[in-house]
Amino acid sequence: MGRSEPEEARKRAESLRRAINEYNYYYHVLDQPKVDDWKFDQMMHELERLEEEYPGLQDPDSPTRRIGGEPLESFETLDHRVPMLGLDNAFNEEDLIGFDNRVRKLSGLDCVEYFCELKIDGLAVSLQYEEGIFKRGSTRGDGYTGEDITHNLRTIRQIPLKLPENLTLEVRGEVYINKKDFERLNRYREEQGLMLFANPRNAAAGSLRQLDPRLAAKRPLKLFLYGLGDHSLELSCQSELLDYLEKLQLPVNPNRTICRGPEEVYEYCRRWQTEKLELPYEIDGIVIKVNDLALQKELGNTARSPRWAIAYKYPPEEKPTRVLDIEVNIGRTGAITPVALLEPVTLSGTTVKRASLHNEDFIAEKGIKIGDTVIVHKAGEIIPEVLKVMEDRRTGREKEFKMPGHCPSCNSETVRLSGEAAMRCLNPSCPAQLVEKLVHFSSRRAMDIEGLGPAVAEAVFNSGLVRDVGDLYYLTAEELAGLPRMAEKSAGNLVEAIAGSRENPLRRLLFGLGIRFVGEKAARLLAARFGTLDRLREAEEEELTRVEEIGPKIGEAVVQFFNTAETGPVLEKLRKAGVNFEEPTVEAISEDLAGKTFVFSGALDSFTRDEAAALVEEKGGRASSSISRKTDYLVAGEDPGSKLEKARRLDVRVIDEEEFKKML
Ligand code: IVH
Repeated sequence: MGRSEPEEARKRAESLRRAINEYNYYYHVLDQPKVDDWKFDQMMHELERLEEEYPGLQDPDSPTRRIGGEPLESFETLDHRVPMLGLDNAFNEEDLIGFDNRVRKLSGLDCVEYFCELKIDGLAVSLQYEEGIFKRGSTRGDGYTGEDITHNLRTIRQIPLKLPENLTLEVRGEVYINKKDFERLNRYREEQGLMLFANPRNAAAGSLRQLDPRLAAKRPLKLFLYGLGDHSLELSCQSELLDYLEKLQLPVNPNRTICRGPEEVYEYCRRWQTEKLELPYEIDGIVIKVNDLALQKELGNTARSPRWAIAYKYPPEEKPTRVLDIEVNIGRTGAITPVALLEPVTLSGTTVKRASLHNEDFIAEKGIKIGDTVIVHKAGEIIPEVLKVMEDRRTGREKEFKMPGHCPSCNSETVRLSGEAAMRCLNPSCPAQLVEKLVHFSSRRAMDIEGLGPAVAEAVFNSGLVRDVGDLYYLTAEELAGLPRMAEKSAGNLVEAIAGSRENPLRRLLFGLGIRFVGEKAARLLAARFGTLDRLREAEEEELTRVEEIGPKIGEAVVQFFNTAETGPVLEKLRKAGVNFEEPTVEAISEDLAGKTFVFSGALDSFTRDEAAALVEEKGGRASSSISRKTDYLVAGEDPGSKLEKARRLDVRVIDEEEFKKML
């Protein structure tokens, strides 16, 4: 049992919670950050410490408790007191006129006021608040019973755990993922060799159906609310309802409007058919609702859907086109990816000429042949993809595609390693791989060398001047100017850009080196933890995997990278050229802390407690969260709390942050 908390601590916890909730609202709902991340983190840490120190202050609805404890065994079900119905669809102006005719006939009105909202392409959810507290949330399920996904919904920062008013009500809306976030998520999954999501909607659904809330918390889930379930509010129309939800600080889509009659509705639908491409999320139509809530009630529902609403659906952006040929791309890791060359077709506003076919299993599963007419779309309105073959369009002249038995670039035999979907060229000096490595190294998210795109990379490689990324730093403007299609000015600019990239922090270099499974995030974690490339190079797999979020797959790949014969000479060239091998945020480490145990308490200025602990462990010391007689040092930051008293009682040496830094 902890000590009972002083009044002062209670007040502080309350004020921290109020501020954190407000900052969350500004950041996640209004998209207008009010404080910087650093300040926010400090406040969260302070609140965590208070709650840890005085268990009496703990509160299940505290912002520190969004991510619950253990994963669930399975999902419970939740009954919807008010069924979650679907919507009838309209596909054209006539359908809208038909809907309006029915509404006018049933209501006896000449002209009906409609409320139009965007139809968010995500997953319907229902949130139950009791006396202002978020209690439960569920999926739609069959409309009468859904799955209890409270643990995952709590991780969505846009959902307030406490409403500003003491209300008991059920709100409904759509959970979704932004197009860009979807693209990023799939890019990460590809790097990790995980299955890709077909579209943002599937990614959102998959995330909400995780049993472990820690996994859901990592997904960029967002939400718009658009309606009510069980409630006792007295409101007169849908437009007022959405304004009211907004006032409760709930996320509501700002694009909504009142239309009188079906013509205005149709115009609004048409307008968004093109404007939707500019939205950061996907919509698949417009939802049209009778604005007057009393009239909604009067019109009632059929068994499946309300009579007072309809969804105007946009045709999916899918089009038929022909597979003119299938070529293969060799990636920087040797993976051979088949790519369909398509008859150009306009999709979501751009011309599509190519679509990745991923691997031979994908081609076999879809039965794609050269010459086939296929249906293409853009996943997340960004990535072109072949959906299916139109078999009825076959002429018999289509040609089966076979993955090449030899690498088209270096002619070495291709292999498919067990457990992998990709076919690979294993030759480390394969020219195509080397060019791709150069392209990746200079890409914007890696070393960011402007002017070194695929065409120039290929030209410098073919010139024989550059074999690997190390050689880039020795290129002269004269040499470059001699290359085909390279003007003198661009040659000079490129040399400058290459020289400028030497100052990049280690994390960019690490990412740019293209170590398997080391994406931007892993590169950042490794750079922060080890500080220098040489320290990382010495690390054994076990030490690597001690870094949080670095698993054995990455650990093994890093060790293997440094053990590969080709790596050493490249690194030496980079070093001699003066390329920075250090991560600036981490202090240089000189002394040994072997065998010493450290405990941290209170906020530190230069690092988070996790970073400080990592530094200690790196030097052979141990970081612990609780103080005992065996503790060698307590590093006291700002507001060190009860640990400081305990350290004094146990005669543990107390040092401040400055002293700690000196020891490092
Ligand atoms: S109202 C009874 N409004 O579309 C009326 N639905 O097929 C219930 N949706 O299940 C829905 N955006 O998942 C409504 N602004 C919006 C919506 C919306 C997306 C989804 C929702 C619903 C489906 C209807």
